[in-house]
Amino acid sequence: MHACARAGEPLPSPPPFTTADLPARFTTEAELDDFLTRPRSALVESIRCLTSPLVVLGAGGKMGPTLAVLAHRAAEAAAHPLEVIAVSRFGGGPTRAWLEARGVKTLSCDLLAPNAAQHLPDTSNLVYLVGLKFGTARNPAATWAVNTLAPLQVAQRYPRARIVVLSTGNVYPLGPASAGGATEEAPLTPLGEYANAAVARERLFQFCAERNSSTIALLRLFYAVDLRYGILVDLAKRVARGEPIDLTSGYFNCIWQGDANEMVLRALALASNPPSVWNLCRPEVFPVRTIAEQLGVLLGRAPVFQGLEAATALLGNSARLCAALGPPATPLEATLHWTAHWVARGGRDWGKPTHFEVRDGRY
Ligand SMILES: NC(=O)c1ccc[n+]([C@@H]2O[C@H](COP(=O)([O-])OP(=O)(O)OC[C@H]3O[C@@H](n4cnc5c(N)ncnc54)[C@H](OP(=O)(O)O)[C@@H]3O)[C@@H](O)[C@H]2O)c1
Repeated sequence: MHACARAGEPLPSPPPFTTADLPARFTTEAELDDFLTRPRSALVESIRCLTSPLVVLGAGGKMGPTLAVLAHRAAEAAAHPLEVIAVSRFGGGPTRAWLEARGVKTLSCDLLAPNAAQHLPDTSNLVYLVGLKFGTARNPAATWAVNTLAPLQVAQRYPRARIVVLSTGNVYPLGPASAGGATEEAPLTPLGEYANAAVARERLFQFCAERNSSTIALLRLFYAVDLRYGILVDLAKRVARGEPIDLTSGYFNCIWQGDANEMVLRALALASNPPSVWNLCRPEVFPVRTIAEQLGVLLGRAPVFQGLEAATALLGNSARLCAALGPPATPLEATLHWTAHWVARGGRDWGKPTHFEVRDGRY
């Protein structure tokens, strides 16, 4: 098979990690970041197909830094001259220097400023991570602005680019937990202003693609998990502290952040016009109760539960993306071990809880 598949051609499906491939645990953030940014061969192959530069918008958040460095390391491993440019507001923290030290160029840009996107570099390949979720209940106007005005600026600035847009599983309403999760054809009728602004983000990219020749892949992500944030850390901390875990939102999907970042980058090959749509998560539906019990065994403390599982949950079916790119490489079991060890020794937490238990759409 040619390394750069044409639209519709099958892509390589790399094998998942075996236990022997995986670290037993992480004790420092440097080890964790090194693992999260270590490219596997399928990504190294696919990165050869990108013309320089690769621009990552919204790169200053939870996913962008490791995604940008992963892309840079994949290009290095492929001996492919690809400049990776990370764009965000970069409001004063260490992220910008962290990226620059690892070979990623950075640009500060507020995509809500008039004509801001006009000052961004030309490119044929974009990853779009910009979004705002938390704080919506307090300031819904800001959420609507970030999730609509910025997409419009970017879609109009890059009318011929190939773009992977990160969307969210929140675009679906709660569905029956027994049904295996929403497929990409499910109606986008969620509850709450954040989720509806996220629908608007998708619709604006689709609307602009109807009028230009951009190719787009929309990825609806359900809970990336790192050791510094994510639903597994949220559960593990509650178990470790003996805090009650509400079971009403009783089921979830998730994916190791390294796998999510790899699939986001490989999904550039899945961009099309009209835009293609994909759910991004591991293929399994995980019960909160079972996962908390497994974390409890690893942490040596039985979880405390309250409430009972409701019949509905926010769930997605990722069969389409798993068929196109191969399943995510990192098994949940490894992630549970890493998380329990990290939480038990007081590893750093970014203080960004997922609020996975929210059912009324208020974030
Ligand atoms: N992480 C997950 O589990 C998850 C789950 C579902 C969906 N997603 C989607 O995936 C995307 C990336 O996830 P993430 O966790 O990295 O999100 P995040 O931590 O919220 O990062 C998004 C970044 O967008 C940037 N941004 C916001 N407003 C901006 C503006 N006006 N101009 C330029 N940049 C702006 C911010 O960086 P600066 O402050 O530096 O500007 C922010 O850190 C999100 O948009 C979200 O919709 C993520």
